[in-house]
Amino acid sequence: MSPRRTAVVTGAGRGLGRAYALALAAAGHAVIVNDLGADDGPAGAVVAEIESAGGTAVLSRHDVTDFAATRELVGLAVDTFGGLDVVVANAGILRDRTLASMTEADWDDVIAVHLKGTFTVAHHAAAHWRARAKAGADVDGRLITTTSASGLFGNIGQSNYAAAKAGIAAFTLVAAQELRPYGVSANCVAPSALTRLTEAPLRRYEGEITDRRRAELDPNWVARVVAWLCRPDTRDITGRVFDVRGPQVGIASGWHLEPTFTQPDDLDELDRALRSAIAATPPAADMEGQRHD
Ligand SMILES: NC(=O)c1ccc[n+]([C@@H]2O[C@H](COP(=O)([O-])OP(=O)(O)OC[C@H]3O[C@@H](n4cnc5c(N)ncnc54)[C@H](O)[C@@H]3O)[C@@H](O)[C@H]2O)c1
Repeated sequence: MSPRRTAVVTGAGRGLGRAYALALAAAGHAVIVNDLGADDGPAGAVVAEIESAGGTAVLSRHDVTDFAATRELVGLAVDTFGGLDVVVANAGILRDRTLASMTEADWDDVIAVHLKGTFTVAHHAAAHWRARAKAGADVDGRLITTTSASGLFGNIGQSNYAAAKAGIAAFTLVAAQELRPYGVSANCVAPSALTRLTEAPLRRYEGEITDRRRAELDPNWVARVVAWLCRPDTRDITGRVFDVRGPQVGIASGWHLEPTFTQPDDLDELDRALRSAIAATPPAADMEGQRHD
C-alpha cells in the first residue's frame, strides 16, 4: 500500500471546502481541516465526520490572512503526518458592492482572504516542497487554488472579488512554472456550487431553488475534479484552469494576442488600425465563458 498522503484544505468547515476535505479523506488522505471559528464549530464537525467514516483529520483554526499563522498551519501538517502533499487554497468571503459604493474595508477584506490567503499557505507549502526536493525526495505535490467565473469573465458588483480571483488565476500559472522542478503541479478551479456564499445571490436571480437545481449545484461535483487532480496519475497536469459547474466541466484558456500591428506615424491611421483590430477581435467572454461576435 502506498504511504498515506496529507492534504490541507483551507475554508473547509463549509460548502466546497467541506466537500473537498471529505472527498480527499475518502481517497485516503490525512486532512488538515482549516477554517475560522471555535473547536466545536463547522470545521470541528467536518473532522468528526471524517473520523467517524474511518478517516484521519486534524482541525486547524489558523486565519489564512495571517502569514505567521499559515506557517504554523503547514507546520501542523508536517509535524503531525511527516509531510504535506496537497494544498487546496479555498477559503473565501464576499463583500459585493458596485465600485462607486465599495468601502476600503470591502476591498481590503476580500483581497486579504482570497489573494493574500492563497499566497500565504502556498508560500509556506512551496518552501516545504523545495526543501524536500533539494534533500533528494521524490516530491509529488499538488497546489490547487480557487478562482471564479467572476475573476475569469467579470461580474457586476464584484470588482474586489473579481480582481482577487483573476489574480489567483495568474498566480497559479506562475506557481505552476516555479513548482514544476520540485515535482509539484499547480492548477486552479473555478467552481459553481450552492453554498452559504451563493445561496442568497442565486435566490435573487432564480427565485426558489428546486431540488433539481440543488442536485446540479452540489459541491460534490467540484470535489470530484479536485480529488481527480490529487490522483497519482495526474501529476503531469499543471497550469490549468478548470471551470466546474455541477456536472458541466470546461477548461478555461487565458488571455492571448489576436491581431498585432506596427503603429503607423499618423494618428488618424492609428485610429483606423486600432478600430479594425478591435473589430477583428471578439469581445471578452460572458459569465458562461462564451464569446459573441
Ligand atoms: N460557491 C460557488 O459557486 C463559488 C463560485 C466561485 C468561487 N467560489 C469560491 O470557492 C471557495 C469556497 O466558497 P464556498 O462557496 O464554499 O463558501 P462558504 O462560505 O461555504 O465557505 C468558505 C469558508 O471559508 C472560510 N473562511 C473565510 N475566511 C477565512 C480565513 N481568513 N481563514 C480561514 N477560513 C476562512 C469561511 O469560514 C467558510 O467556512 C471560495 O474561495 C469562493 O470564492 C465559490
